[in-house]
Amino acid sequence: MAPPAPKAHHSRAERETEGEAERDGGHARKLYVLYASDATTYLEMTGEAAEPATAPVGLALVKESYQPELVPEADGPAPHAYTPEMIELVARGGFYPYATHEGKRYRTGARRDLFVMLKRAPGTPGADALGWVHGTVTPEGVVTAAGAIESCIRCHRRAEHDGLFGLE
Ligand code: HEC
Repeated sequence: MAPPAPKAHHSRAERETEGEAERDGGHARKLYVLYASDATTYLEMTGEAAEPATAPVGLALVKESYQPELVPEADGPAPHAYTPEMIELVARGGFYPYATHEGKRYRTGARRDLFVMLKRAPGTPGADALGWVHGTVTPEGVVTAAGAIESCIRCHRRAEHDGLFGLE
């Protein structure tokens, strides 16, 4: 079997915070795709190995969020089906745009904000206590915030892997 294509994920942010996410500019209910400058390290440190315990300086993560669109069950391809459309999409560097939540199928709709985290040495001006610099960027590429952003820190300081939650 070919390795599975990168795929969209449902954000679980609302569950972790009992619904305060939208108010805080978090990522509740949206679909997202995650890009990492070093995917292996990200997956290892947030996975079972939990190594390394801290993110290396320079690790950059971009969470690309999308409006979720409900897909009638009959319309989308079977989960993980490699239809010609899907093969072409993945070949162009795209991702599997479907995700299932509570038995319902969704597809990525309109693009929403990018959520960025960059690891600097702890103590770097503009970084938080762990060394993370946060940023938000509109789909058009306008940077709307950057630095040690209080609303991001409020959730991410509770994330067990050096401020990272990891994929579900
Ligand atoms: C309401 C809580 C909450 C807030 C506020 C929040 N996040 Fe997150 N964030 C999460 C959760 C939970 C995840 C795990 C993925 C998911 O389920 O969405 C995550 C994942 C991420 C990731 C992927 C890396 C990882 O594994 O943790 C990045 C990058 C990120 N958030 C950036 C930000 C930025 C930048 C802000 C501030 C603008 C922010 N987040 C605010 C809860 C939050």
